[in-house]
Amino acid sequence: MIKLLMTTLISLGAFASEYTYITIGADAVQTNLKSTPYFNVIKADNEVALVKVKNEDIESISKLMHDKFRRCGGFVAHETQKEALKTFKQNELRRTIKSMPFVDYTITKNDMVKSLVTEVKESNIKEVIEKLSSFHNRYYKAQSGVDSQAWIKKKWEDLSTLRSDVKVEYFKHSAWPQPSVIMTIEGSSKADEIVVIGGHADSIAGYWARERARAPGADDNASGIATITEIIKIAMENNYKPQRTIKFMAYAAEEVGLRGSSEIAKTYKKEGKNVVGVVQFDMTNHKGTDDLDIVFMTDYTNEAQTKFMGKLINTYVDGVKWGYSKCGYGCSDHASWHNNGFPASMPFESTMGDINKHIHTKNDLIERSGGNADHAAKFAKLGVAFLVEMGK
Ligand code: BES
Ligand code: ZN
Repeated sequence: MIKLLMTTLISLGAFASEYTYITIGADAVQTNLKSTPYFNVIKADNEVALVKVKNEDIESISKLMHDKFRRCGGFVAHETQKEALKTFKQNELRRTIKSMPFVDYTITKNDMVKSLVTEVKESNIKEVIEKLSSFHNRYYKAQSGVDSQAWIKKKWEDLSTLRSDVKVEYFKHSAWPQPSVIMTIEGSSKADEIVVIGGHADSIAGYWARERARAPGADDNASGIATITEIIKIAMENNYKPQRTIKFMAYAAEEVGLRGSSEIAKTYKKEGKNVVGVVQFDMTNHKGTDDLDIVFMTDYTNEAQTKFMGKLINTYVDGVKWGYSKCGYGCSDHASWHNNGFPASMPFESTMGDINKHIHTKNDLIERSGGNADHAAKFAKLGVAFLVEMGK
């Protein structure tokens, strides 16, 4: 009875503290926020400050943040100090994942890469884009989205029939029917170090009845899967054997919140798998109007690895201009890896200000990208270079 009374009182807030712990941009603390009557800075670094404030002042702080910084809210409230302190750990981890080199990035496989890169064939990539776009859609809940994954699995199997060190498997997701597809080349001497080359295979269009909506997804993202398939083809035809383990991934359910890749990255983290590099190919065949060919996203990605990929272009992909851009949110599967502590890069087809406006509609067809796969071929060359220089 007493226990019941206590729980009721607690849930009514009778014992709730008159204080709240907020984490707020460190820049905000420098300003007249300090004029808040009770404003106790408990911990701060360059990025964020943890401040104990009175509950009654929350509203005025919120208003100040809005007026001064144009931030909505602009802070996060935590019930306990312990909970709030976690923010510093999380931010530190995020900074580390962003800036830390995970391996030695060296360019040493000149002869092999130079020769393999010449084997990239635009017509192969075009063929796969057209085949994948011919499925009515590749929606994660639609039968056609299951069938398209079966097609990718068979295609990758057919390319690797002569290799006993290669397997192609489904990664099944219990919450929806579409599986992801994973092809593994077992590493010869550093098998526990994993390099992931991936892209999402699903497509989406419209807002309702998406199961039935036509969604060819030629650029988003048949182009990425076709790019990866060309890398696989070249690797297999040349009997390429990596020292690290390579995993090619065609993710399910990206378009509905990165769900396929999240489940995979979480599982890998839980199993303690050592993923030392991830590249995401999502939209490779629609060139923007400016002179850049390949644009690296700077958010949710690893700086050291991305810089290395720029070097790979300079060394191995003639005539390709590259630069940087930013999604501004976790726009594709690289974010799933990043959020789980793995280093990722995302080479993209254009800057963010200049994107293919047909994606997520029934008009995302190869015809809207010039009717050829010339642009994607540049990404396949970069992918081959990444495979060989990271696989060693
Ligand atoms: N390929 C897009 C991401 C994209 C679009 C990147 C345009 C850069 C420019 C991806 O398939 C996608 O649509 N992502 C979603 C977010 C996701 C969390 C559901 C998006 O951007 O809305
Ligand atoms: Zn999309």
